[in-house]
Amino acid sequence: MKIDGTHFRTIRVDDDGWTVAIIDQAELPHVFVIKGLKTAADAAYAISNMLVRGAPLIGATAAYGICLALREDASDENLAAASELLMATRPTAVNLRWAIDEMTHTVRNLAREKRVIAAYARAGEICDEDVETCRMIGVHGLGLIARIARRKKGAPVNILTHCNAGWLATVDWGTATSPIYQAQAEGIPVHVWVDETRPRNQGAALTAFELGHEDIPHTIITDNAGGHLIQRGEVDLCITGTDRTAANGDVVNKIGTYLKALAAADNEVPFYVALPHTTIDWSSMDGFDIPIEERAPEEVTQMTGRTGEGDIVTIDIAAPGSPAANPAFDVTPARLITGLITERGVCAASLEGLLGLYPERADDR
Ligand code: MRU
Repeated sequence: MKIDGTHFRTIRVDDDGWTVAIIDQAELPHVFVIKGLKTAADAAYAISNMLVRGAPLIGATAAYGICLALREDASDENLAAASELLMATRPTAVNLRWAIDEMTHTVRNLAREKRVIAAYARAGEICDEDVETCRMIGVHGLGLIARIARRKKGAPVNILTHCNAGWLATVDWGTATSPIYQAQAEGIPVHVWVDETRPRNQGAALTAFELGHEDIPHTIITDNAGGHLIQRGEVDLCITGTDRTAANGDVVNKIGTYLKALAAADNEVPFYVALPHTTIDWSSMDGFDIPIEERAPEEVTQMTGRTGEGDIVTIDIAAPGSPAANPAFDVTPARLITGLITERGVCAASLEGLLGLYPERADDR
């Protein structure tokens, strides 16, 4: 996707052939800066502190974290230590586990001197596969938008999204945004309601940033405005991403997703979730079994922004001394979800629906 007309991926190997270059998302939307990761510890820091975030990009960064670890020391012991370090960074997005398993599987039976090259090759493939997967999610999601556009006879299709499930959360295209980008490319008029997504404001800071650079009409709203807009008929369709989808179709995504799904169901507005196969946890048959990350209370009691003078500052916004809780994700039960948009097509949010698209996983549970 484009920044000021230049195509970027969120992660790539630098010109030196081994440093891993990321967009530092903690600096967005104010400063667009590329940062180099040189060690597995750098990769772990980038994931934990959300310099990179979003389930697919967390997985891609962990894959390169394994490459960086093997470059330092290609022993089995270091591979195990790096896997443990990276696994501990964030608990909810299952792409992390998927990517580390893929990397371990790739190198574990190789001689030490062959491991680094094989690891970088597999990490590159994981990124390329993510790009194609997200592109295909867009191809399948486009049909849903096109159908509503036909019904609206050319009036813009209003789509509500939550958090950032855009290209910044993946390697390119995004999941929830991919159908939107492809609709725009097809000349279908769209307008996106962007939930600001407290406490870290991934909607206001990241989704709005990327939609702006892609010239997609959009409006940032407070998280609390979504129900009102849905009720007033201002939303034709909701599309969100997911950090982990259980095999029964329950979706775990950024905190607040559940409330939007409730409002959509109450008003018969379709609520879709877009996801790559790497986000499905076939070992979990119930979304409520999935661990929910609890983050620092300061994310609730403080806010970071840019002053009129251009300085980036963090300020307190809450009553001093009051405790705060910060669950980062919630569970949207499958019954509230109209459908899942995957790279293989759109299916019901259910085990049957998912197995219809991924029949090879029938024996996995
Ligand atoms: O805490 P974050 O910013 O990593 O949370 C991201 C989300 O909740 C996204 O919606 C999800 O990872 C899907 S990204 C394609």
